[in-house]
Amino acid sequence: MTDTLKPLFSREEIREAVKRLAAEISRDYSGEEVVCVCVLKGSFMFTADLVRELEIPAMIEFMRVSSYGSGMSSKGEVTITKDIEMDISGKNVLILEDIVDSGLTLKWICNALQARNPKTLKIVCLVDKKARRKVDIPCDYVGLTLEDGFIVGYGIDYAEKYRNLPDMLVVEKN
Ligand code: IMP
Ligand code: MG
Repeated sequence: MTDTLKPLFSREEIREAVKRLAAEISRDYSGEEVVCVCVLKGSFMFTADLVRELEIPAMIEFMRVSSYGSGMSSKGEVTITKDIEMDISGKNVLILEDIVDSGLTLKWICNALQARNPKTLKIVCLVDKKARRKVDIPCDYVGLTLEDGFIVGYGIDYAEKYRNLPDMLVVEKN
């Protein structure tokens, strides 16, 4: 079985979106510092690019969760497989997520981090698939939007493949 990949967002479009997000965040948190929580693995490239554009002090933490179930959708049953190491109480926390689909994963992460009493907690999402949302979750900063489709590239995978591609592409199964 081969995957057909069709171009969706070019590296230039992604770069523009990331720069705009960084400018918005830098403006909103002017005079403050933020803790950026990179949700592994998909957000590693996004995080690396975004934090380099921030004009405010930023600390970086990594978290990995696994959503049970396989294939192209999540069921919202989540466990932390790698937790952040910093005490985030009283801190401005930004969750950096590659793509929000049903919203179930992010909702769960949000609740888990909110329970640790951050000063503020906001969501930065590179790609928002709004039409597929199953739970109400406010994405405070959105880079790019997409109605539907399964995408890969720029950190995002399909069965661990294609994370290294610099552009984002839509996967069409044959
Ligand atoms: P959700 O819980 O349905 O919102 O799923 C979120 C997670 O599923 C994302 O963080 C991705 O890891 C994965 N995911 C959702 N949509 C896509 C996609 O189009 N391509 C690759 N992974 C995706
Ligand atoms: Mg993810």
